[in-house]
Amino acid sequence: MTEFQIRLAKISDVEPILAFCQYTWENQKDYMHLVLEKRINNPENKVFVVTLDDIPVAMQQVVILSKQEAWRSSLRVDRRYRRRGLSKLLDSHTNKYLSKINVPILRYCVLSENELMLKIISRRGDKKLDSYSVYKADADTVTSYTNQLIQLDLKHFDDIWSLMIRKKILYKKKSFYTQLIPKCQTITPELVKDCLLGGKVFGLIQNERLRGIAIQSYSELSEEEFYIGYLHGEPEILTVLLCELCKLAYSLGKSVVRGIFPLNDIFGDALSQAAFQRIDQAEAGIYRSSLKIKN
Ligand SMILES: CC(C)(COP(=O)(O)OP(=O)(O)OC[C@H]1O[C@@H](n2cnc3c(N)ncnc32)[C@H](O)[C@@H]1OP(=O)(O)O)[C@@H](O)C(=O)NCCC(=O)NCCS
Repeated sequence: MTEFQIRLAKISDVEPILAFCQYTWENQKDYMHLVLEKRINNPENKVFVVTLDDIPVAMQQVVILSKQEAWRSSLRVDRRYRRRGLSKLLDSHTNKYLSKINVPILRYCVLSENELMLKIISRRGDKKLDSYSVYKADADTVTSYTNQLIQLDLKHFDDIWSLMIRKKILYKKKSFYTQLIPKCQTITPELVKDCLLGGKVFGLIQNERLRGIAIQSYSELSEEEFYIGYLHGEPEILTVLLCELCKLAYSLGKSVVRGIFPLNDIFGDALSQAAFQRIDQAEAGIYRSSLKIKN
């Protein structure tokens, strides 16, 4: 009898994977056809597949974000092979892979509407770190000619970092830089420097003091909008910062500004005052895997 095997996906797997991903959800479309080929071609992504007679019947992706952390996503099991332990098989394979390359932290996102997945992870005992939601606003078309934001560079690094770690305005224990489709990465000095070098960091300076910053990020699905990957600043300037980002987006030719923000009152108030709308009532829970290795 043939058995389930696990291996890395190859380009010839795209067709059979997309064939079963047509039926991932009952009432909505899967986005996998928009990203799968790019992901398999990118060596930074590890797309693992479970195969039967070398044909994929389940998949999961792991991205190594740094020496410390990895991000897991896109768990999909062909409907014909569900409830046979394939998600568990992929998890234990992922865990073994991460322990082999010494990456200790694995995180992932589950939407609050995915009841089955929530049941599965509560049994696993994984820890929920925070809840996020996606917000968007129109880029500001009635813009004034002045934009208060300036593009920051490496010489601003010390000011940026001291703003980021200033205790009084830390809104949460852990801050992430986010991308869409959701992917969260811990904000570190190295990451900030990379973003500075890429020209992606914008600051609000008033009275010669840096009071707020935003980092532009990207979406795997489209480059048409302006994506906010990180936003931080003194509470009283967060609304201004968001409004200024809408102006900046317009000047860059983008019509929409979008971002994933932690669900808390400080961000919630600033976002609504800046005319951002929460576009999905589902919460995106960010979890940390307990990374138990089962043999
Ligand atoms: C969620 C999903 C990945 C589960 O995959 P699977 O291979 O069928 O799951 P497994 O067979 O490994 O089962 C894992 C556990 O969930 C339970 N389970 C799986 N499907 C279940 C169902 N429909 N109802 C109740 N329990 C279920 C299993 O009994 C098992 O429990 P146990 O740990 O107590 O033994 C699969 O249903 C799927 O592809 N769903 C759509 C995509 C999705 O939701 N992906 C996750 C995005 S975050």
